[in-house]
Amino acid sequence: MSEIRLDRVEKRFGDFVAVRDSSFTIAHGEFFVLLGPSGCGKTTTLRMIAGLELPSAGHIYLDGEDVTDKQASERDIGFVFQLFALYPHMNVRQNIGFPLRCQSVPRAEIRQRVDEVAKLLGIEELLERRVAGLSGGDSQRVSLGRAIVRRAKAFMMDEPLGALDAEMRERMCGELRRLHDRISATTVYVTHDQIEAMAMADRIAVMNHGLVDQIGSPQEVYDQPATLHVAGFIGSPAMNLIPVKAALRAGQSSLDLGDCAVPVPAVAEDLSERALVVGVRPEHIEIVAEKGLRGQVFGSEYLGTVQIVTVTTPFGQVKVRASSDLRISPDEPIGLNLLAGHTHLFDAATGVALGHGRVLSKPPASAGVLRVAHV
Ligand SMILES: Nc1ncnc2c1ncn2[C@@H]1O[C@H](COP(=O)(O)OP(=O)(O)OP(=O)(O)O)[C@@H](O)[C@H]1O
Ligand SMILES: [Mg+2]
Repeated sequence: MSEIRLDRVEKRFGDFVAVRDSSFTIAHGEFFVLLGPSGCGKTTTLRMIAGLELPSAGHIYLDGEDVTDKQASERDIGFVFQLFALYPHMNVRQNIGFPLRCQSVPRAEIRQRVDEVAKLLGIEELLERRVAGLSGGDSQRVSLGRAIVRRAKAFMMDEPLGALDAEMRERMCGELRRLHDRISATTVYVTHDQIEAMAMADRIAVMNHGLVDQIGSPQEVYDQPATLHVAGFIGSPAMNLIPVKAALRAGQSSLDLGDCAVPVPAVAEDLSERALVVGVRPEHIEIVAEKGLRGQVFGSEYLGTVQIVTVTTPFGQVKVRASSDLRISPDEPIGLNLLAGHTHLFDAATGVALGHGRVLSKPPASAGVLRVAHV
C-alpha cells in the first residue's frame, strides 16, 4: 500500500503563497499528474510530498501515517528530475545500482536487481557503457532505472521528459506509462505539458496560482472543465471562450446573441443578468454558409486531414476544426453553428463552470476551495 493524502496543505515563501489549501488523495498504484502553467506550485507540491520542503500549514499522510515532519530519507520515495544528474565517473550499471550500494545491499543482489531493471527498461546492452556518451532518451532511462531499483513506496517525477526533443518525449511517454502498468507504483508526475498529462495520467490535478482547480480523469477535465482556467489550458487548440452578458431562466437551452441563438447548457436555477462565458471546443463548431454566428475567415492552418480555421466574429476570434476538403478563403463571410449538447457555460466573475453540454449544472467535483477567475 502506498496512498498519499494531502490535508489542507499550504506553502508560503515570506508573504508569497505558492500552494494554498491543497487537499487530495492519491490512490495506491495511481499515476497522478500535477499539471499547470509555470510558477503555479507543481514542484513545490511535489517537494512537500517528498519531504524536501516543509509545509507552512496542513498535513501529509503516507499510507495513513502522518509524515509531515519526517525527513525525505525517512519517507522511502524515489525521484526522477528533468536534469538527469547521472554520476559521470560511473558506468550505467554503477549508476543504477548506486542507491542500493548506499543501503549496503549485498553485491550479488545489486547485480541481480540492476539486471532486472535494465531488462524492464530495455537497456541491458548499455549496462557496461559510460554515461558520458548516452543520448538524452537513454540518459533518462538510466535515471528512471536508478529511481525504480530501490522499489520505493512511491515515485516523484518532476518534468522528467522536459529536456528531450518532441519525438523522444512522445516515445518516453508511452514507455513510462507501460513501465507504470508493470510495476504499479504510486507515481506523482509534474508537467506543464497537457499532452503528456492526457497521455499518461489516471487522474490529473490542474493547478493555477497555487490552487488545485480540478482533479479528474483526462476525459473528465476535457469534457467537464470545472473552471475557465481548466477549459483554456486543456485541449489544443484551446476551447473557444465567448464572453456574453445575459440573464438565463432555469431550463433555458439557448442564448440570443443578436442575429443568432447559440445553444447553452441549461441551468437549474434562474440567473440574473451577469457576465457569462460560453465555451465551445473547435471540433464542436460547424461552418455553414447561411445563418449561424456570423464571422469572416481570418486564416486557416493546414494539418493534413483537418484544418484549423480562425474566424473573426463580433465576440472575438473563434477557432474551428474543419475537414481539409472544405475550401475557404481569407475574408470570406461564413456562419458558425455551435453544436447543441457540446457547449459549456461559465460565470465570468468567478470563473466557475455553470454547466456542460446536456448536463444540468451541479457543483464541479474538485478540490480547490477558493475560486479565482482567469479569463
Ligand atoms: N524557495 C523559494 N523561495 C521563494 N519563492 C519560491 C521558492 N520556491 C518556489 N518559489 C515560488 O513559488 C512559486 C511556485 O513555484 P514552483 O517551483 O512550485 O512552480 P512550478 O509550478 O513547478 O513552475 P515551473 O513549471 O516553472 O517549474 C513560484 O512563483 C516560485 O517563484
Ligand atoms: Mg517546477
